[in-house]
Amino acid sequence: MKTNKITVVGGGNTGITTAFLLMLKNLGDVVVIDLPQFTNTVKGKALDILEAAPLLGASRRIIGTGDYGDTAGSDLVIITAGLPRKPGMTRNDLIKVNAEVIKSVVTEAVKHSPDAVILVLTNPVEIITHLALKYSGLPRLRVLGQAGVLDGARFRAFVAEELNVKAADVTTLVFGVHGDDMLPLTRISAVNSVPLPSLVSEARLEEITRRTKGGGAEIVNLLGTGSAYFAPAAALTAMASSILLRENRLFSAVVNLEGEFGYGDVALNVPAILGGGGIEKIIDLALTPAEKAVIDKSVAEIKSLLAPYA
Ligand code: 2OP
Repeated sequence: MKTNKITVVGGGNTGITTAFLLMLKNLGDVVVIDLPQFTNTVKGKALDILEAAPLLGASRRIIGTGDYGDTAGSDLVIITAGLPRKPGMTRNDLIKVNAEVIKSVVTEAVKHSPDAVILVLTNPVEIITHLALKYSGLPRLRVLGQAGVLDGARFRAFVAEELNVKAADVTTLVFGVHGDDMLPLTRISAVNSVPLPSLVSEARLEEITRRTKGGGAEIVNLLGTGSAYFAPAAALTAMASSILLRENRLFSAVVNLEGEFGYGDVALNVPAILGGGGIEKIIDLALTPAEKAVIDKSVAEIKSLLAPYA
């Protein structure tokens, strides 16, 4: 069987941590690409990971580069490039700069890897995933974004702490936007099938939901410079694994919608099964009227932010 090839665009904290996890899990040969002025740094970081491989049982290769030619023939392109938030900024404050970044990255990446699945992390992720589809010209099911897996992991970690149970046994689904209006669906969250509302008081559940919504900002404020990267990298790696190993796992993924849930021409976190073709299936989950009202508001906001790029 052909070895998978994975390109990680952006050799910052998230990109390089993702590359490390991809190597640790032997998911494929990894190419980390950064801007020309950072070529030596990214080469150094990749070499450091290569030298760790014998100690980790990792058997794939990794290189750092500034040349898109080295990314040719990738099966998966993970885009972490772009500016992160500073304290006090919202994710939407990043649109202008990161829209430019995504245009050049996607154009170059697709030129060299026309058959790849594109997985976007760059914020604001719903907007950038929508632009990535537009600039790539790829079929929509091969361009997706990461946010719900991370937000869900934060929620799961906080629930595990609250109940003193294993975090992996907590399941949830975060719908909508990666921002203040995200919708952790607590009514269908559970610990090994036992519904969360019967395990945690309503007040504590509300507090956990509130902390999840502000999870990214909590870390931005603690770090003072830059944003979270271990959990985002773990989320990207879980999605990459489902795609590259055809695991068909059901995740909350940022999907470009064309009529699903009544929305079109907009990307949102919705439940989807991820496999070899990228998004294998979008899961039609019924929302309550109150949940639908939250999503309607988010969609209107995303569309107005996207208007200048139409
Ligand atoms: C976060 O929530 C980086 O948006 C990302 O930490």
